[in-house]
Amino acid sequence: MKIYAAKDYDDMSRKAGNLIAAQITMKPDAVLGLATGSTPVGAYGQLIEKCKAGDIDFSRIRSVNLDEYKGLSGEHDQSYRYFMNHNLFDHVNIDKARTNVPNGLAEDPEAECRRYDQVIADMDGIDLQLLGIGGNGHIGFNEPCEVFEKGTHVVTLTEETRQSNARFFASVDEVPTHALTMGIQNIMSAKKVLLLASGEGKAKALYDSCFGPVTPHVPASVLQLHNDVVIIADEAALTLIRENTHWESMVYDN
Ligand code: PGA
Repeated sequence: MKIYAAKDYDDMSRKAGNLIAAQITMKPDAVLGLATGSTPVGAYGQLIEKCKAGDIDFSRIRSVNLDEYKGLSGEHDQSYRYFMNHNLFDHVNIDKARTNVPNGLAEDPEAECRRYDQVIADMDGIDLQLLGIGGNGHIGFNEPCEVFEKGTHVVTLTEETRQSNARFFASVDEVPTHALTMGIQNIMSAKKVLLLASGEGKAKALYDSCFGPVTPHVPASVLQLHNDVVIIADEAALTLIRENTHWESMVYDN
């Protein structure tokens, strides 16, 4: 794990945008694993600017998103398909037919999970997987639980996650109770992982994920076992790591 310090959200987004752009430049037909939520929006903005400036080309890029709410169609403005179109795909020269998000309306969600695993397998793996982190340590919608779920699966969202995501809905009652999410093995199979964390609300989850025991109770802790993880975190998210002078030395300042 390499942890890079960013001053604030904008600095984190710039650094992340540069790293993803470098991946696209080095491998123009890369498979990008993409994430939703507030955290990556700024990085996507950076990629849009770079694409408009002619610095990166998405025409051969393929993508696979981490998760989708069960029960929401891609047209629903809180679905993750809608989010991706709105925050990235509509503004760059990506072929949407090469972009993948689980189908939240699938009649047979279990079959949809198996189909999604096959989509990832057929792509020959993910070159760069972008992740946010939940305040409870979740990655994708892999919530704290007793075992690391391997493949794409249907998950019951925790109350904490639904409350946290209620800010995007009219009320918490409208937040779906279930989601389809890539599993831990899907994520761990990515060649490179880029995790972004911003804000004090992520400080404990980030600290536990990097320096606590590897446990499904803190799903992101499994990333300690991946051999190419880059974390870009702003100072607010680094608070607890900074306070522990031993681990503080693990942070690259630049
Ligand atoms: P956020 O969510 O980016 O909206 O904070 C991150 C996550 O829950 O994975």
